[in-house]
Amino acid sequence: MERWVKVFGSPEELASAAADAVIELLRAAIERNGVASVALSGGSTPEATYKQMRARASELDWSRLRVFMSDERFVEPDDPRSNFGKAKRVLLDGLPIPVDNLFPVDTSCASAEEAALRYEALLLEAFGGPPDFDLILLGLGEDGHTASLFPGSASIHVVDRFVVATPPGTLQPPVERVTFTYPCLNAAQAVVFLVSGEKKAKVLQMVLEGDPPCEACPAACVAPESGRVLWLIDAQAASLLRARSGR
Ligand code: 6PG
Repeated sequence: MERWVKVFGSPEELASAAADAVIELLRAAIERNGVASVALSGGSTPEATYKQMRARASELDWSRLRVFMSDERFVEPDDPRSNFGKAKRVLLDGLPIPVDNLFPVDTSCASAEEAALRYEALLLEAFGGPPDFDLILLGLGEDGHTASLFPGSASIHVVDRFVVATPPGTLQPPVERVTFTYPCLNAAQAVVFLVSGEKKAKVLQMVLEGDPPCEACPAACVAPESGRVLWLIDAQAASLLRARSGR
């Protein structure tokens, strides 16, 4: 696994650079394969990046994109807490992405586990086998979680599933979730973490300079075997790091 860490002076610079990096990664994947498969992250940090990507819409052939979610809250699609709902509002609505290329988690199922099973089946069909995303976007929680892999949860130990349901973690909102597992995350060609703000400084130092166990800090075990991880962070989140940008 190749790891890059890049620090930007402000959240605005981070969002702008992250939009450039994501568009470039997707454009390269489209050039290689004719199509690019991306999984978007939930949470609030990516919003500024999504807005910047939307402002640069002309720089990407969106019709060649397949859009998934790296995790989802088990709520109705129109619920303001829905990650896909937010991605639609902030980024996707109005872009020339064929509706068949949008792959939200089906949260109309009877249970989060059924939604996870259906999403996993959808991934296997969409990829013609185990998913190998061109790009997965992720955030970092203050407790070290990423996607909906929470510290101490059983989902961290799953090796035979690509998507699972998880009970409400400590993260608000306290709803069940559907999340990619390490077998899915670590098969990606590229993973981009977006981390911003002073509150993330302590956990980011642990992840990047501590070598914590997966159980305590799930984000630290996102390590694509043949891919690369790009940590795009702002100065506040990087404030406790010994090393700054670089590999
Ligand atoms: C979610 C996200 C979650 C998020 C982190 C960071 O469903 O909320 O998937 O993993 O990425 O909690 O969230 P912020 O970017 O809002 O700090």
